[in-house]
Amino acid sequence: MQEFVVLQSEKVKVPLFGLGTSHAGGYSHDAVVHALRECDYHLIDTARRYGNEEKLRVALQESGVPREEVFLTTKLWPTDYGFQSTRRACIAAMNRLGVDYLDMYLMHWPECLSSVDDPSRVREDTWRALESLRDDGLVRVVGVSNFLEHHLEEMLDYASHPPSINQIEFHPYQNPIKLRKFCKEHGIQIMGFCPLAKGKILNDPVLREIASRVGKSPAQVSIRWSLQQGVITIPKSVRKERILENSQVWDWELNEKDMDALNGLDRDYHAVNRSVIQAKIDTALPDGYKLNTKLNMG
Ligand SMILES: NC(=O)c1ccc[n+]([C@@H]2O[C@H](COP(=O)([O-])OP(=O)(O)OC[C@H]3O[C@@H](n4cnc5c(N)ncnc54)[C@H](OP(=O)(O)O)[C@@H]3O)[C@@H](O)[C@H]2O)c1
Repeated sequence: MQEFVVLQSEKVKVPLFGLGTSHAGGYSHDAVVHALRECDYHLIDTARRYGNEEKLRVALQESGVPREEVFLTTKLWPTDYGFQSTRRACIAAMNRLGVDYLDMYLMHWPECLSSVDDPSRVREDTWRALESLRDDGLVRVVGVSNFLEHHLEEMLDYASHPPSINQIEFHPYQNPIKLRKFCKEHGIQIMGFCPLAKGKILNDPVLREIASRVGKSPAQVSIRWSLQQGVITIPKSVRKERILENSQVWDWELNEKDMDALNGLDRDYHAVNRSVIQAKIDTALPDGYKLNTKLNMG
């Protein structure tokens, strides 16, 4: 049975678990409809960059699930940063998704185009635009993604309140304790992406031993490890059977010893390579450019 967290700033109730839909490895319409209709998913995570917002609109309509029962998160790409352009981008995203409000809208990265003279100023203008979108009722929750402590500290100077959410990479190989502590102190909820490290942790011997002992899959144990720490978790799959498997994480729990063993796996491994993001922002790649690429699961 789905659980929720209530955000400190907006007092909005957010499902603790949802479906990631990033473009690597493709997009499956049937898988999204299956998640919404059959597997109790009530949160969908997307982004302009994934190039699938229009596809999701079709899946949302076909699922027949009422709008208010799906918590819809999308993200602003840095080429849209700035006050007016953020507003325009938000309205364009709502049109692509076929909705008249977003549940959550996030700044996808703290980085801006390198051509920008004053990135701090651009982030501030962007954040003010997000706050105004929330005040106007177009977005319920505004937040950020991939922000480090120093980016968040900068925001605290001008934000009317800290961002409600920081969506960051989070799995047993990537557990940023200091950043999490900072976020907790400022009432910023962590939303974890790549809970399976894009599949890279699934052969870990410690994870596999726990999984076999508790009678669950390595993916389920990894997801459960996130959920038990109150981190919103959004595994992605385009396969119906995995969508169901990943959602079966509620009627059991990991004991303290297993949680400790999983905590001990952290090695600061990033499934998403931050060092190439600036180049990706500066290169005019089309949204969804990876939809047809196959992910190497290694
Ligand atoms: N804010 C950001 O910058 C950012 C960055 C990255 C991701 N995200 C979000 O976070 C979501 C999740 O991250 P992610 O998609 O990168 O990685 P992930 O959820 O850690 O892993 C997805 C990979 O694992 C496979 N998989 C899924 N369930 C499985 C299972 N039960 N057993 C074995 N393999 C399984 C998937 O393959 P199949 O699809 O073939 O099943 C896919 O290759 C994204 O979709 C996106 O919404 C956000």
